[in-house]
Amino acid sequence: MYRKILVGYDGSEAARKAFDTALELAAKDGAELYVLSVARLPDVADDVETEAVIENSRNRHRRMLAELKSAVAAKGVKVHYEVTAGHPAEQIIYDADRHEVDLIVVGHRGRSKFARLLLGSVSKQVVQYADRPVLVVR
Ligand SMILES: Nc1ncnc2c1ncn2[C@@H]1O[C@H](COP(=O)(O)OP(=O)(O)OP(=O)(O)O)[C@@H](O)[C@H]1O
Ligand SMILES: [Mg+2]
Repeated sequence: MYRKILVGYDGSEAARKAFDTALELAAKDGAELYVLSVARLPDVADDVETEAVIENSRNRHRRMLAELKSAVAAKGVKVHYEVTAGHPAEQIIYDADRHEVDLIVVGHRGRSKFARLLLGSVSKQVVQYADRPVLVVR
């Protein structure tokens, strides 16, 4: 039985699959669902333009999360939508710890155009470094 589930969402098809699975699990167990979307930080920091770039990226991630709302409405699951900025795997793990979730769900691939590896670097790092159960949805 899961009480709290966190899913990482980057707007990709694989992340959508992960979200759908997380939503099913949450509905089945009556768990709360945390949907986290992490805006990546640009390399160049402390610059006036950087602020605008981050804000722009945060807004894009907010719109991505808004697309999920109709699926949730039918399920009666309590969902928390969160947008942060930073390193995706680090933020996913940090947020999972903060909310003390029982399960982290990620997709096997993301938005990257280059399928260099069998598993994306974000999912790989989450599996490797998270201190809690991780489900990679394929
Ligand atoms: N910015 C992000 N915010 C939230 N979740 C993310 C983010 N990026 C990736 N994820 C989660 O990790 C899963 C795998 O994506 P990942 O980024 O590891 O693959 P990739 O984009 O194909 O590879 P890479 O980013 O290493 O080039 C996604 O399906 C999603 O669940
Ligand atoms: Mg990626």
